[in-house]
Amino acid sequence: MSTRYEPYRPQFHFSPKQGWINDPNGLIWWGGKYHLFYQHYPDAPLHGPMHWGHAVSDDLFHWQDLPIALAPDAPAAPGDRSGIFSGSAVDDDGVLTLIYTQFTDTNARPGYPPETQAIATSRDGVTFVKAEENPVIGTRPEEATSGFRDPKVWKGDDGLWRMVLGSGDEQGGKVLLYCSPDLRNWEYLGVLYRGDRTLGTMWECPDLFPIGDKWALIVSVNVDGKQGVVWFAGRFENERFEPETQGWCDFGPDFYAAQTFQDGAGRRILIAWMSRWGAKIPTAADGWAGAMTLPRELYLDENGRLASRPVEEVRTLRASEKPALELTGIVPKEGSPRGSGPEEVLLELSPDVLGDLLEIEVEVEAPGDRGPGSAFGFKLFRSSDGVQEVEVGLEAAPGSSMDKGALRLYVDRERGTVGDGGRFECEMASATAQLRLFVDRSSVEVFTADGSVMTANVFPRQPGNRGVALFAKGEPFVVRSLRIWRLESPLAKG
Ligand code: FRU
Repeated sequence: MSTRYEPYRPQFHFSPKQGWINDPNGLIWWGGKYHLFYQHYPDAPLHGPMHWGHAVSDDLFHWQDLPIALAPDAPAAPGDRSGIFSGSAVDDDGVLTLIYTQFTDTNARPGYPPETQAIATSRDGVTFVKAEENPVIGTRPEEATSGFRDPKVWKGDDGLWRMVLGSGDEQGGKVLLYCSPDLRNWEYLGVLYRGDRTLGTMWECPDLFPIGDKWALIVSVNVDGKQGVVWFAGRFENERFEPETQGWCDFGPDFYAAQTFQDGAGRRILIAWMSRWGAKIPTAADGWAGAMTLPRELYLDENGRLASRPVEEVRTLRASEKPALELTGIVPKEGSPRGSGPEEVLLELSPDVLGDLLEIEVEVEAPGDRGPGSAFGFKLFRSSDGVQEVEVGLEAAPGSSMDKGALRLYVDRERGTVGDGGRFECEMASATAQLRLFVDRSSVEVFTADGSVMTANVFPRQPGNRGVALFAKGEPFVVRSLRIWRLESPLAKG
């Protein structure tokens, strides 16, 4: 393993030692361990002929690399990009079975169908054999014109396997539904659900799963340059899905191709690719590209909406039980100047909490009416002169469709990264906000207590940009509590 200093290397998010990764694949709790497979090109930090990389963990944070699980067949010609696209894993009576899309580069292999579905099996959870019966689905239905990939399989209560597949046509994205008694013979049951063009024309990485007393469907969408994951929650009965609510799984720019699984404790856990197609990748200079998000536990909130929280195990990363910084009950002084405009009050935090491996927990209240320009939040990845920084803030949301007094959460990385810039927003349900922020060398993930998340990569311009400051402007906010923990690196522990 390289001992080179890699300034952007995430410490508690999974990333490849070398080469490229994109989607998480085959997430499963199997043989007493968490298994993470992933889209991988081991030879260079770019999307080449795809493999499935493989890692296992006891706690979702300390990952052990295993040999590549699936590799493309020998190239038919130089430049053949055929490979193993995304898919899922199931336990078939003790046999770990991977179900994936065989992508065929038709320039190198004219006449072949570009996308078919195939399986591979393993008894030891390390070595996988592609099935002789492949492809198990060789032709696509006529109505699936824009793509035919990313099988997600689960076992129904009736003992039959079900598969959802990503597809679409020029009218919108589609999810196709299949059924099988044995993972080898599949019957097409039809289009499970379709969208209109506002959510793109090809839905990737669909996943349908029970949650609470409902079912949720998630799909990755790509529309007008915006990439993200949409959820629908509702009923799934008699092979039909009827959504009742809908939303985004994450409001940040770097969250795509999410997949879920149920673990031994019965939790529904989601992991996504913490990047996007077409992103600037400053880590390519170090020979690697891509990382996974924090594992998140999904739940349905009281309004039937799909919500996320970080998995409990993330607390084990805290360097000490006691926060490095703790403040409670900071209330603006009676008669303190109001409406003082855009002027900003800054509180630089001491070097103890400087850092790029942090958890920040804050509860803030925004009393009364706030004029435009009122904001409170954090400056992260800050250079010593304060010129380069990333802002994570709460601001008044006058245009909000929510109750008066609602807040908007934003992440503004325009001045803090050599990667893609931009400002991203998400509306909060009330005028009180509880946030948990996780900072890991080249990313920040912000979780709200009402179940929303924003995920953004940040590649600081200089390795020393690790400053943290609090800021406030305009009308006062009340900080009910603020705690900052330094986090320990699972990589350092080996
Ligand atoms: C989503 C995706 C999938 C495909 C894979 C290829 O990011 O485009 O649809 O299977 O990546 O690497």
